[in-house]
Amino acid sequence: MASINTAFKALCLSLLFVTVSSSPDTEPKVFDVQSYGAKGDGTADNANAFTNAWKDACAWKGRSKVYVPKGAFCLGGVTFAGPCNCQTYFVIDGVVLAPTNNDDIKKETWVNFAYINYLTISGSGTIDGQGKESWPLNNCNKNDNCPRLAVSMGFDFVNNSRIEGITSLNSKAGHFNFYFVDNFTIAGVNITAPGDSPNTDGIKVGFSSNINISNTHIGTGDDCIAILSGNTNLFIYNVTCGPGHGISVGSLGKNKVREEC
Ligand SMILES: *[C@@H]1O[C@H](CO)[C@@H](O)[C@H](O)[C@H]1NC(C)=O
Ligand SMILES: *[C@@H]1O[C@H](CO)[C@@H](O)[C@H](O)[C@H]1NC(C)=O
Ligand SMILES: *[C@@H]1O[C@H](CO)[C@@H](O)[C@H](O)[C@H]1NC(C)=O
Ligand SMILES: *[C@@H]1O[C@H](CO)[C@@H](O)[C@H](O)[C@H]1NC(C)=O
Ligand SMILES: *[C@@H]1O[C@H](CO)[C@@H](O)[C@H](O)[C@H]1NC(C)=O
Repeated sequence: MASINTAFKALCLSLLFVTVSSSPDTEPKVFDVQSYGAKGDGTADNANAFTNAWKDACAWKGRSKVYVPKGAFCLGGVTFAGPCNCQTYFVIDGVVLAPTNNDDIKKETWVNFAYINYLTISGSGTIDGQGKESWPLNNCNKNDNCPRLAVSMGFDFVNNSRIEGITSLNSKAGHFNFYFVDNFTIAGVNITAPGDSPNTDGIKVGFSSNINISNTHIGTGDDCIAILSGNTNLFIYNVTCGPGHGISVGSLGKNKVREEC
């Protein structure tokens, strides 16, 4: 792993050097979703524009930044996949809105990041799961075939990365899931859903290592942080929690069944 990281950095630095020597600008190259046709008008679906901006940023031979400016951007279910060429920033200053109808997401996770090294998500913006309409559909305590509502944001096999600053509001199911991530920092994030919203866990972590969650406010209708199986070296500092069911460790029999409905 260490040698892979070193090789990655060396490659990234050499690519950076080529970029820098051809241009004095050392800021990351910006890929504004609006240049890909995204509209922050609160109506158009911007899934294609976001995905195309991501693809170009990910393939850029140097540091790159996907930028979501102020505005209300509707977004269907998307996956932002790597591997990327170099360090990638994803800056959200606007509000990103999930479809109100869960069926329109067509995925288990609304916004998914996968197989990425050196990703930074930041900004003053909000990802809004618009869960209010879906929460009444969560009747899993009495219906085994209850609908599986979407998690707002998921990270799978994403290493050496961080998420900071943004707000996650009113997820349909959980807010953030982390699976098979290594060296991930979650700092200064605000996670909010009403205390009576069902299954709106704040952060779920499984099969991950070297996670640092700090300076984060979590107020939801379910666990603030759920620590599932297979984690090592998880550090939690200055996390305020409430409303919610606190921090849970392990898969607790009945709860687990209820959670996975
Ligand atoms: C992240 O690390 C895990 C385990 O260390 C590894 O399986 C995975 O391939 C890595 N992902 C990337 C994108 O390097
Ligand atoms: C952890 O990731 C950060 C980037 O978020 C990077 O600067 C640091 O070198 C990584 N640590 C290790 C041990 O790879
Ligand atoms: C978190 O976000 C909610 C919704 O936007 C807001 O009402 C609340 O003030 C924020 N809390 C913090 C600690 O930033
Ligand atoms: C986790 O992050 C906090 C805030 O950035 C920092 O103070 C702390 O030293 C970090 N902990 C570890 C174990 O890296
Ligand atoms: C704890 O986190 C909050 C944000 O949730 C921040 O405003 C505050 O400065 C942090 N306190 C310390 C001691 O880091």
